[in-house]
Amino acid sequence: MSTEPEDFQAAVSLVGQYAATLIQPGMRLGLGTGRSADAFLAALEPRLAENLHLLAVATSKRTEERARSMGIGILDSTREPLDLDLDGADEIDPGMNLIKGAGGAMVREKIVAERSRRFWVLADSHKLVARLGQRHPLPLEVLPFDWQGTFARVAGVCGGQLSLRGGENPFITDNGNYVFDLRLPAEILDPGRLVRELEEIPGVLGHGLFLGTATAAIVSDGQDVRVYGDLEAARPGL
Ligand code: A5P
Repeated sequence: MSTEPEDFQAAVSLVGQYAATLIQPGMRLGLGTGRSADAFLAALEPRLAENLHLLAVATSKRTEERARSMGIGILDSTREPLDLDLDGADEIDPGMNLIKGAGGAMVREKIVAERSRRFWVLADSHKLVARLGQRHPLPLEVLPFDWQGTFARVAGVCGGQLSLRGGENPFITDNGNYVFDLRLPAEILDPGRLVRELEEIPGVLGHGLFLGTATAAIVSDGQDVRVYGDLEAARPGL
């Protein structure tokens, strides 16, 4: 049974429409993965008749296919920083720190988000939490080589409940790797420390904690749209 709120689709459609109206001709975009990112693309599609000449780096094969089919030019690198990344999230805390990766695309998503001057999170309001880890497990992308050893090491360091996504038929990311879902015993009190611990484990290639990466969030409950942060704020140094 789906646990999604009934108004999820209405909410992400409103968010997608709000964001789509703000896209300027010639922009170089990062395109996220998931239902919220899809809702943005659906809202953007009618605007492409305005000859916007958009270019984008997509964070998954699925998003790339969709963007290509809409006539968006696909870039193969963030060598030159992007103007704006638009992507969903699984949880958003009051500091706009995120858990991402329910779709397994978090490693590419982080690469693209961190090379974008602005990163707008698109979400329905049920994604807002007081502290990360309250509702959603933290996804980790891991190398298939000796994944059992990596599993033991993550379990030893982090505690909580750890599972290999897909079990006997492991989920494979676009990068050819596995995903662990880490459900911590309680909300994450010190996300920075958890990041440091995870990043010391060689088989862990990436994780869904995005700390200080988002520059704004566009959120809806299906009725109204609210903006958190500043849509014009840009990441320093890019
Ligand atoms: C993809 O791996 C994820 O990071 C998604 O962006 C995130 O799970 C949000 O997805 P939805 O918009 O489908 O809820």
